[in-house]
Amino acid sequence: MHAPFGEMAAGLVRTGPDSEAHATPNRLRWMPLPLPKESVDFVEGLRTYATNGSARDQHGIGVHGYACNRSMAGRVFYDADGELLFVPQQGALTLRTELGVLEVAPGEIAVVPRGVRFRVEVAEAARGYVCENYGAPLRPPELGPIGSNGLANPRDFLAPVAAYEDAGATELVAKFGGRFWITKLAHSPLDVVAWHGNYTPYKYDLARFNTINTVSFDHPDPSIFTVLTSPSDTRGVANVDFVIFPPRWMVAERTFRPPYFHRNVMSEFMGLIRGEYDAKQGGFVPGGASLHNCMSAHGPDLASHAKASAAKLEPQYLAGTLAFMFESRYVLEPTASAMEGGLLDTAYDAAWDGFQKAPLK
Ligand SMILES: [Fe+2]
Repeated sequence: MHAPFGEMAAGLVRTGPDSEAHATPNRLRWMPLPLPKESVDFVEGLRTYATNGSARDQHGIGVHGYACNRSMAGRVFYDADGELLFVPQQGALTLRTELGVLEVAPGEIAVVPRGVRFRVEVAEAARGYVCENYGAPLRPPELGPIGSNGLANPRDFLAPVAAYEDAGATELVAKFGGRFWITKLAHSPLDVVAWHGNYTPYKYDLARFNTINTVSFDHPDPSIFTVLTSPSDTRGVANVDFVIFPPRWMVAERTFRPPYFHRNVMSEFMGLIRGEYDAKQGGFVPGGASLHNCMSAHGPDLASHAKASAAKLEPQYLAGTLAFMFESRYVLEPTASAMEGGLLDTAYDAAWDGFQKAPLK
């Protein structure tokens, strides 16, 4: 029982395919989104870094950032274009959904399925990242020879218990077909008193990730750090993998321990929740982001390379760090606002200045 939806401004949110996008092989890095000075809610504070694929064809992702300081009031939101993976970096979010309430702090993640209505409430300024997944729903990866346990264990994903509110007139905002729409209901749709089933929002504490890595030498493929995956129709290249680099022991012998220099098929959007990432000394700061697209060369900066090359290879605990990656088989095309919005680190390539060609022996 509602009037037809009317279109509203989409702000800086974009959807794949994005006709204004700037596909580029260049390595990109962004400074953190500034926390707003004026009053901004989650939907108003959402902006898109990059997109790929096609929401209308149900493959690909949108990579967004958010910075807000006000709870959504008298308004709920749903996304018909994809499910939403929330990665808070600063400030906790309360996701008040049709199926109940999820409290999500930095270091935790939450997923709201496509179409589920919710409101985002904040007690303080909040910033983070959102992966809008147009493709197959996220799930833990197949474990292969790992067997039955390890990585993200299913028991640690938490669904809410039913909770309802009995409120009056409520605006309903929809993201549908890459556009934003609005209508008004005479009641809050967050009025579900009970439910059963498995199409639920859920949260997960990244500290519960059972990190697996080498105990001998070299690096396994970084996919060993996959928390959740949205498979594609081709095995080995996901629509998107959500990958984390959490605190962990480094024990590899005869090995350059930081991430090695590489180019790869998948395109990598990285964010940093806290601490330092072990391939960069400065420049990649919490709340910041980087993008290394398909087959674009990247790896540690000179300072990280020099330090790791000279390091004594004792067991070392990497503490107080939490980086993550949205990694997709499709090239991520940055939005116009990401390229021209003033947060792009135009000196990023200098991170690789100073490497010398090794003499042939
Ligand atoms: Fe990489």
